Amino acid sequence: MDAAPHPGDWRLAEGDVNTSPERRNWQVRNLDRDADALVAEDARLFMSQSLSSPCLAAVAKAEGIWLEDTTGRRYMDFHGNNVHHVGYGHPRLVAAVKRQIDALPFSPRRFANPVATALARKLTAIAPKGLDKVLFTTGGSDAIDVAIKYARAFTGRHKTLSFWDAFHGAGFGGASVGGEAIFRSGKIGPLLPGASHVAPFACYRCPYGYPVGADGAPDLALCRMACANMVKYVLEKEGDVAAVIAEPIRAVPYVPPPDFWGQVRAACDAHGALLIFDEIPLGLGKTGRMFVAEHFGVAPDILVLGKALGGGMLPIAAMLARADLDVAGTQAFGHYTHEKNPVAAAAALATIEIIEDEGLVDNAAAMGAYALEILHDMKARRRLIGDVRGKGLAIGIELVSDRDAKTPANEAADRVLYRALTRGLNFKLTMGNVIALSPPLIVTRDEMARALAILDSCLADEEESTGVASSTPPWLNF
Ligand SMILES: Cc1ncc(COP(=O)(O)O)c(C=O)c1O
Repeated sequence: MDAAPHPGDWRLAEGDVNTSPERRNWQVRNLDRDADALVAEDARLFMSQSLSSPCLAAVAKAEGIWLEDTTGRRYMDFHGNNVHHVGYGHPRLVAAVKRQIDALPFSPRRFANPVATALARKLTAIAPKGLDKVLFTTGGSDAIDVAIKYARAFTGRHKTLSFWDAFHGAGFGGASVGGEAIFRSGKIGPLLPGASHVAPFACYRCPYGYPVGADGAPDLALCRMACANMVKYVLEKEGDVAAVIAEPIRAVPYVPPPDFWGQVRAACDAHGALLIFDEIPLGLGKTGRMFVAEHFGVAPDILVLGKALGGGMLPIAAMLARADLDVAGTQAFGHYTHEKNPVAAAAALATIEIIEDEGLVDNAAAMGAYALEILHDMKARRRLIGDVRGKGLAIGIELVSDRDAKTPANEAADRVLYRALTRGLNFKLTMGNVIALSPPLIVTRDEMARALAILDSCLADEEESTGVASSTPPWLNF
């Protein structure tokens, strides 16, 4: 059994922990001399930071759902930083970008250009009702900053309310409304004033202490949605919050209890706060709907997209807002050099068209449902799995060393990750012990079955090495 992590322990960090002993062991076994040299040079040249540099290995190719490292090892990429909705290097996307580079490679800000306008037209046409204006930025963190500025300017208030454990970007705005120590604590000094946080919805580990059933569902008669009530409570006590900002489905992942957002929307309306949905990782179809908001029948006042918007090729993010929020014509809240970059806009437009034309949102819903069915079966056989959850292709498998005590099995999760990498499957660990699967929307049934068979074999080996009985799944021979 894992010993409990202590403050400062590498196992407490969110995401890719690049200092774990398992990681170094993996590198020793798997990197050749050239890869080792490249990773070492990368470490020498780049500022080191947890979650990225020093790196694990060096990548040489990215195609479809596959990554290939410089040693020739191929991985099904069920991580992709959530940029690869249409798969890497989609030929239609490559062609659109090449065409745009030839036609118009850049557009200084004082000029309109047809492709940026076409992207704005497209986004406002498909977005949840009422989001009729846009602003593009280079990255998601910038778009979050811009959204906060507009909420302040529109409401004349500066306070925000968001969730502990959330990530909304690495800039000062994102770090202030985010709730992870790794981005906001330490020596960086004061963050934005007025940024309050509440504990988030997280039913399996309800921060308000309520239990869930064996299926992971909350007992709403018991908890009365304490998580939504706390948002209401703080909005009322503060009385002058500009905006609630949150991911509608948390990328951990955690899906909110039914009508959570309905209640929060009503509380925002009652207290004059805007509702900002951060759909940077999961928007554009990952959850089986084009926009995450669609699952809840709730319209935000501002919705932020990023990551996959650039097709996994170019950096672009977007803030979509209600037209009446356009209140800063004499100021400049989103004055980014690449605001209307035509090549990035062409990539985004092609990406949305690919998602629509190839029916990728429906595929995400179908493959997600298929995966969850297999994973629930896996949970019944693998004692290491404490919880299986998700929506569409945002899937979480929480590993525990004791199901009743829900003891996080962080070290086991780390070993499972490196075994999976060796067997050709790449995924992210979040919160230390949650396997987050986020394959591209193009994933096929066979690929999903293959990836889950790899995961099952890694869990089996972990259980065997720690003396827990295992059994062979019937679907392993897909
Ligand atoms: C929920 C969420 N918000 C904001 C961001 C920041 O986006 P970017 O890395 O493009 O600045 C991320 C990136 O991981 C994210 O997951």
